Amino acid sequence: MVTVNQQRVPRKRTYLMCSPEHFAVEYAINPWMDVTTPVDAELAVKQWDRLRETLVELGHEVHLLTPEAGLPDMVFAANGAFVVDGTVYGARFKHEQRTAEAAAHRAFYESQGWRFIAPGETNEGEGDFAYLPEAYGGLVLAGHGFRTELAAHAEAQEALARPVVSLRLVDPRFYHLDVALASIDDGNIAYYPGAFSSASQRVLAQLFPDAVLADDADALAFGLNLVSDGRNVVLNSDASGLAGKLRAAGYQPVPVELTELKKGGGSVKCCIAELRH
Ligand code: ARG
Repeated sequence: MVTVNQQRVPRKRTYLMCSPEHFAVEYAINPWMDVTTPVDAELAVKQWDRLRETLVELGHEVHLLTPEAGLPDMVFAANGAFVVDGTVYGARFKHEQRTAEAAAHRAFYESQGWRFIAPGETNEGEGDFAYLPEAYGGLVLAGHGFRTELAAHAEAQEALARPVVSLRLVDPRFYHLDVALASIDDGNIAYYPGAFSSASQRVLAQLFPDAVLADDADALAFGLNLVSDGRNVVLNSDASGLAGKLRAAGYQPVPVELTELKKGGGSVKCCIAELRH
């Protein structure tokens, strides 16, 4: 019998978030978005605020990006860039409705003196890139199939000088990597195999034999769109099955409600970019 009594250790993080002051579902660029579903704007802000407070209470630092009118998806701050060891690989959005968000993120990083590399290829930042500092000496996992172009994976590898493993997403409900896979500590991941091509599933199984696997219900509840500090795993409260699996593996699930932002096709991780110095 295997007993898990491993003490998971949290590491302090620095995050970037953007208030959903101007959040709305005004267009539909993923299967979760329906322009006829009403959004409770006030509740969206309340839930987002609770998420921000949760991160602060866990001891993390949260920077804020100023939301802009006319950019209703700007709350999904994870899409604006991908940062590894002080270098920022900028985003270039697929849909023109979100194009202008990239400049807002770039201005933030440049004002703070980060090394910024402008992208030539379409990519949606941490929506499609994940970083595992302790896996294979520092590994980037990258999704393609819906938003980020395969060519951006090679561009990211050159920009960040870390090996990038390309994974093909095949289910439109999981249009970004971060709704199907998440790092749960510096060296391990949780993921939903059904979101990936069978070849990519084999790649993940080979690289991460100890991964926590999510089922359909967890994945559809946006459970994988989580943020972990290595011990505390902040995730959507609807993903109770995944929370149980994480607890059994020694992590501390921290559930949050994000019903309104789910109408835009996002949850916890989509709202949070990690600034890795
Ligand atoms: N409405 C946004 C879009 O479709 C949601 C983005 C969610 N962000 C994420 N990191 N998965 O682009």
